[in-house]
Amino acid sequence: LAGLDAHDAPAAAESPTSAPGEPLTVLFGSQTGNAEGVAEQAAERARAWGLDVELKDMASFGKQDLKQATRLMAVVSTQGDGDPPDSALGFYELLAGRKAPRLSDDHRFAVFGLGDASYEYFCESGKVLDSRLEALGAQRLCARVDADVDYEEAATQWIDATLEAFVALSGSAAPGPASDSPSGVAATYSRSHPFQAEVLESQPLNTQDSDKQTLHVELSLEESGLEYNPGDAVGIVPQNDPVYVDELLAALRLDGEAPFEEGRQLRDALLNDFEVTTLTRPFLNHWAEISDDAELRRLLDEESRDELREWLQGRHIIDVLEHFPVEGLEADTFIRALRKLPPRLYSIASSQAAAPDEVHLTVAVVRYETHGRARGGVATTYLADRVQPGDSVPIYIDHNKHFKLPDDDAAPIVMIGPGTGVAPFRAFLQEREARGASGDNWLFFGDRRRRSDFLYQAEWLQWRKTGILSRLDVAFSRDQQDKVYVQDRLREQAATLYDWLQAGAYVFVCGDAERMAPDVHQALLDVIREQGEYDDEAAAEYLRDLQQQKRYQRDVY
Ligand code: 2AM
Repeated sequence: LAGLDAHDAPAAAESPTSAPGEPLTVLFGSQTGNAEGVAEQAAERARAWGLDVELKDMASFGKQDLKQATRLMAVVSTQGDGDPPDSALGFYELLAGRKAPRLSDDHRFAVFGLGDASYEYFCESGKVLDSRLEALGAQRLCARVDADVDYEEAATQWIDATLEAFVALSGSAAPGPASDSPSGVAATYSRSHPFQAEVLESQPLNTQDSDKQTLHVELSLEESGLEYNPGDAVGIVPQNDPVYVDELLAALRLDGEAPFEEGRQLRDALLNDFEVTTLTRPFLNHWAEISDDAELRRLLDEESRDELREWLQGRHIIDVLEHFPVEGLEADTFIRALRKLPPRLYSIASSQAAAPDEVHLTVAVVRYETHGRARGGVATTYLADRVQPGDSVPIYIDHNKHFKLPDDDAAPIVMIGPGTGVAPFRAFLQEREARGASGDNWLFFGDRRRRSDFLYQAEWLQWRKTGILSRLDVAFSRDQQDKVYVQDRLREQAATLYDWLQAGAYVFVCGDAERMAPDVHQALLDVIREQGEYDDEAAAEYLRDLQQQKRYQRDVY
């Protein structure tokens, strides 16, 4: 791992901490741990600056805490349709509700939001927090930053700028950073230094007559030293589809062989470094400027929001280039409009207890046609079409602190995972089997058709036989006239499910964030309300309590 050595930790312990002014609260709301990571980095940096720091999770941050946090740095991510992390829902309710505390301009704050610029409600929870704090009377110390998927650099800059502002605020001479080096995290592979993992196997999980293509992919971790836990994800650093890149070059009338930078060709850069499919707001803004197209500018007006959303349906960068053409465009001008190709995350489908040198993935290959053009998911078609067993794929492990088996092996678990959402549950069962965990395991799985789409059927049935899987409920949506989904099975099993909850069961939900997860959430509320004889509010509180105790965890995308 040459060149990847961990830097020394800042010499915070040795520097005389003058700790001027009031303590700094670094608050985070995190779904998978990225926002938490930024907050940890901020706290560590602040300590190196000699500040008195408290690191806090929104999961347990109440009214009094907020009132006392007169120096506040907040980091929060956005998921799904502009929602805050599950663990932060209570805090957001507090902010929005009548019980929100009144703050004063003694309260200074700065907000860093994490999100994905290809979503309409980009960084929404950061925006909401930022405006609520102001509305409650606090004073913004630094402008909010909305960071895209490639957030690391923006985070480091925000941390330094914000700390400087807080130190300046205290009036005393700024102690300055004790050391310039970043945090002392252990050296390992990361998104910027991925491990080249050999593809050992790639097998279809559907039969041929299925209208879906789902792959079971096994990658080698041999010699990597990489470790993961069930619930973690793998980040794949994909390569774009060369056919698509050539289409782009043709549409732009650019020469792919032209040198781009340091002996590289433009085509190579487009293949490996930049996102060339998904549209983002910054790209559209950039393109409106480059093209000076009145129609595009009108579409980007706030009043055209609905029209724009409609127009973007099924469209990619190439559609924009063709619709709003620009003559004589320079390669650099185009590249500047693009964002870096973000890695794609896949929930891990194996346990290292069962396959020590491997990591398994369950990949639904995305292919469709819109506006007369065949389209595909970048990473899924890369894995399905452009790499073979024997090739290597750049990967890293993305640890997820918020989707974890209970430490207590005797605790029962309920797993709800339709489609590829079932992946982490294969990992959970492998792990629990290897550990000899005594707790009961219940799986709800769903897909289109039993005959063609029962992913890992033989494995679940084997686990039913050996008793590792105590219960298995399946919902094949297209095997009958009316759709049947996992949430219908939850409702059918209401009494037993409630017994399990009362007995301390953990509930895990993985898969589609847009419709499945909210529908399953509602089904859980209904089960709790009916079986516990609660009203709506009490049922919601029951589920919120579960969430707070980490007994209701979601990995949805
Ligand atoms: P469908 O495609 O037949 O509508 C995995 O993709 C499974 O999830 C499929 O059976 C799919 O059904 C189903 N599914 C679709 N929408 C869902 C929802 N809102 N809740 C739960 N399952 C859903």
